Amino acid sequence: MKKRNILGLTTSGHGFSAALCVEGKIVAANSLERLSRKKYDILLPISKTDLNTFGWNDNPAIYKQHIDLPFDLEKDYSEVDFGKLEGFRRLMDHVLNAAGIGLDDIDCVAYSYRHNGNVKRFFEERIPGAEFIVPEHHLSHACQAFLPSPFEEAAVMVLDGQGVPMKRTGYDQLSGCLAQGSGNRIETIVEFPVSASLGGLYAEVTRLCGFQTNEEGKTMGLAPYGTPKIYEQVKGEIRLGEGAGLRLRDLKRLFSPGDRPKEKLYSLGNCMGFLQKFEPRQKDEPFSDDHKDLAFMAQQIVEDVMIYLAKWLREKTGSKNLCIAGGVGLNCVANFKVLDNSGFDSIFVYPSASDNGLAVGQALYIHNLVDGFERAYRTTHDYMGAPYTETDIRKAVESCREDADVVITEFREMKPLYGTMAQAIETGKITSWWQGRSEFGPRALGNRSILADPRDPDMKDVLNSRVKFRESYRPFTPSVLAERAGEVFELNTPSPFMLLAPGVKPGKENVIPAVTHVDNTARVQTVTRDVNERYYDLIREFEIHTGIPMVLNTSFNIAGEPIVESPQDAVRCFLSTGIDVLGLDRFFIEKRTPE
Ligand SMILES: [Fe+2]
Repeated sequence: MKKRNILGLTTSGHGFSAALCVEGKIVAANSLERLSRKKYDILLPISKTDLNTFGWNDNPAIYKQHIDLPFDLEKDYSEVDFGKLEGFRRLMDHVLNAAGIGLDDIDCVAYSYRHNGNVKRFFEERIPGAEFIVPEHHLSHACQAFLPSPFEEAAVMVLDGQGVPMKRTGYDQLSGCLAQGSGNRIETIVEFPVSASLGGLYAEVTRLCGFQTNEEGKTMGLAPYGTPKIYEQVKGEIRLGEGAGLRLRDLKRLFSPGDRPKEKLYSLGNCMGFLQKFEPRQKDEPFSDDHKDLAFMAQQIVEDVMIYLAKWLREKTGSKNLCIAGGVGLNCVANFKVLDNSGFDSIFVYPSASDNGLAVGQALYIHNLVDGFERAYRTTHDYMGAPYTETDIRKAVESCREDADVVITEFREMKPLYGTMAQAIETGKITSWWQGRSEFGPRALGNRSILADPRDPDMKDVLNSRVKFRESYRPFTPSVLAERAGEVFELNTPSPFMLLAPGVKPGKENVIPAVTHVDNTARVQTVTRDVNERYYDLIREFEIHTGIPMVLNTSFNIAGEPIVESPQDAVRCFLSTGIDVLGLDRFFIEKRTPE
């Protein structure tokens, strides 16, 4: 059988993205939000048709109240022609251009789960003969977790908010699964019902803390400011252990038709009901003790359950390797505790762990599981966006020259540019760094990053007041030379995608205060030269200047906007904020009068 060109398409309520698999390898992936410049863009509002898909028909008002996605329950979008939607066309052009193939080279489209009719119609009209497959949500997450991992075999943990109702589960949407991967096979061991949704619990606490849907990272940052008070009150609801939390009505379900999740490994009891007595924090209102304690509680419960599940998996599978995906997998604090406490030697968390990364999971599902090919792809980096030409870059640089009072230097060699950048960072400047292809996942990993001095105790406030305009309590992250990470952090494993948050070694927290969180942890990115030569060499230059083998790295955007994608986006963000310096490919651009 010929290796097919496969398009994976995420059309979920949490994201809209596309990935291309050519010769069994993921060669391009990006999210709609980066191109449309609308954060968390899901293309079309949640509509009447979606209510069916999500299993929300019984009481749509509840979802509207709890989830701040764009809703339009009046209109029917099922007839909308995707060919006429600018955002969809741009996303397709972007990934096809990155992969170097045309639309009619696609043999198979793997997609789920909104707009399925529209997607099918769009491609059927344009690519006669293409096959359409809608893989299951959590199996696709398991594929996304394991198939691109470096492991030949591994245990797999998938945890998210919810999938879609299916006949075989008695219309339970499910909220995760445990599985085992080996070669190009994945076996599901146990599935979790939506009533045990860790992602759902975390999302609800996120809402109560006054944050928006998809802003669970803010809750994670707030958690260490809380106390265990609420956790102590609620933890009796949580049951861990096989058969946990089985109640009379569950027993009834066990004998009902359909393949409902039978084995209960944990239960959240009436946790959600308990939350009803709390009022959500209003925007711009200070955090009350309750809000901080709620964040603490959600984080603690997620950690308790994940550690329990990981230990169970370790025992059940005998594997030393663990792969994680699903939205909960973005919780780098919990991921590190899982690694530290469950007996696994190695962990892999796919960098785009939540629904956007499903595009990759679905495409690999087709190639490896359906078509049966051996795994030919391992994720070593997350720079999956389309490349830009020298013309694109020069055009952006010229527009910068026209629009602002800047000094522009073009470097023939990169090394002196690293020195100039390192010096700017060392002298307290806020710098930005745009290089190569964009990161697919939510973390900027050195190609679309704002970089600053991790040693400066005031840097957090400076960045917040001049560029990021975000909550002052949230931590910034370090990008550290991989071979030096163990000297500063309690970390003896790679963390290339910033999805582990180890402790900062005693005595080092005062050396790098700008990247040390209040609980003395840091969301570390370990950088190797073979993965990102330019970024590595820049950090190395900073080390030569200062003796510190890391820089502060935060995503290149301002609050409320997606990470910059094109060189033009980079120039726009640079000029509209208090960033002093832009390193754009070979160009060093500095504002003449720093703000
Ligand atoms: Fe999901």
